[in-house]
Amino acid sequence: MIIPKHIAFIMDGNGRWAKAKGKSRTFGHKAGFKNLVEVVKACQELGVETVTCYAFSTENWNRPASEVSYLMDVPSELYSEKGKEFVEKQIKVRFIGRRDRVPSHTLKAIVSIEEDTKEFTKFEVVIAFDYGSYEELTTSIKKIARDAIDGTIKVEDIDDNLISNYLYTRDLPPIDLMVRTSGEHRLSNYLLWQLAYSELYFPKTYWPDFNKNELLIAINEYNKRNRRFGSIEEE
Ligand code: FPP
Repeated sequence: MIIPKHIAFIMDGNGRWAKAKGKSRTFGHKAGFKNLVEVVKACQELGVETVTCYAFSTENWNRPASEVSYLMDVPSELYSEKGKEFVEKQIKVRFIGRRDRVPSHTLKAIVSIEEDTKEFTKFEVVIAFDYGSYEELTTSIKKIARDAIDGTIKVEDIDDNLISNYLYTRDLPPIDLMVRTSGEHRLSNYLLWQLAYSELYFPKTYWPDFNKNELLIAINEYNKRNRRFGSIEEE
């Protein structure tokens, strides 16, 4: 079985999972966070090299204050409760997205866990937090325009490789497989540029129930796909 090098997740269905149990949305996100840690460890064991997950979108600020408040606490929980284990397991953590709108305690935790794990090279978890593709692309295009005006780059040099190098994901490998749980078939402003040639998989399972067995089913599904990257079948 070929193990995808880079898997991206949209961890959807926490709210519905909690509702089905008569619990609050925050209860669902807590279970979702716990599950993310398990999925990350399972990915590392299987030999995946990069895991990217959508933890908070640029649109998620519109959710109820209590829900936003809990999600803004998750980086601190990650740092205080899992920081040591991530260092032991040599898991590098990186956050992508805006940093100017998150509360200071959240930013502090983000910077701390990134700093503690920055030397690790074999396995990386990328957490999209206050992330949205429109914002990422708009910010990058502004920077490209500024660099072209001040002569750092030439307009003729702008190609897909150069654009990739202006994105938050600049030095990450291509995404082989994107999994969105809960049966929704949307990208929701997630890695629009980066997913151009990725395989997409949409299991019905709600994120808190997406376990190692479900992960193996997703990888098995990936193995059935025939990736041609716009070319045709070899003879
Ligand atoms: C979508 O499900 C999920 C989110 C918007 C948040 C996901 C966040 C976590 C799992 C916590 C991990 C965070 C970090 C920083 C490591 P939903 O609530 O929209 O589900 P619903 O569609 O059923 O309501």
